Amino acid sequence: MAQLVWIFLLICLVNYSDSAKSSRQRLRLMWKTFNCLANSNYISGHNCFIVEPEKSLITAELTYFVDISKYNATFKLFMPRPPSRQLQKVIDVNVDVCQFSKGLHGHRFMTIVIKGFGKKASQLKCPHPRGNYTYPNINIADNLPAFLPETDFKIEMNFLTSEAHVFNTSLTGFLYDPLKKKYKPKDV
Ligand SMILES: *[C@@H]1O[C@H](CO)[C@@H](O)[C@H](O)[C@H]1NC(C)=O
Ligand SMILES: *[C@@H]1O[C@H](CO)[C@@H](O)[C@H](O)[C@H]1NC(C)=O
Ligand SMILES: *[C@@H]1O[C@H](CO)[C@@H](O)[C@H](O)[C@H]1NC(C)=O
Repeated sequence: MAQLVWIFLLICLVNYSDSAKSSRQRLRLMWKTFNCLANSNYISGHNCFIVEPEKSLITAELTYFVDISKYNATFKLFMPRPPSRQLQKVIDVNVDVCQFSKGLHGHRFMTIVIKGFGKKASQLKCPHPRGNYTYPNINIADNLPAFLPETDFKIEMNFLTSEAHVFNTSLTGFLYDPLKKKYKPKDV
């Protein structure tokens, strides 16, 4: 039964149309960790942090000293699988950012993430010239489907060219109902 619920949830997660926003009380998102690793052949400096005090937004700042003509983004989502609560990969996509930014070969969950960049999402296109990039207050929570359960999760999002990984990010956080008293996140 748990298995069925899980499969159903996955199907919803992947197929949910984010335009159909529910009037239900939305869960809040709180980030726990945000780590970035930059390839020093492309990036001379970076800064990734969770925006205090609410910890619902994240900011990334990057200095690219190499022009990139074409790149991909990979996105992995891990959630605990009952009953063991061990993290399991539930989404694993690799998109060509050049095609994606033209609206081709989209992936719904990736679209949610990209929307979270707000106006700065326009910087995620090809070619990607050298320079300073700041992505302040990336807001993923506002675009998440409302039916998601309270849960811990982990996201890994990497940017890569055909030659190398350029920038790797890893995030952990949890979704909780602000009306409930306490949600005790599991350490991920
Ligand atoms: C990014 O992740 C990939 C795949 O896990 C790994 O091969 C690569 O070395 C990482 N790059 C950096 C800069 O950490
Ligand atoms: C980019 O950021 C770096 C580090 O903050 C700074 O030293 C450099 O002057 C900036 N370059 C531009 C073009 O703004
Ligand atoms: C980039 O994404 C496209 C579409 O998913 C895929 O065909 C291609 O192999 C990917 N390239 C890299 C370097 O991962």
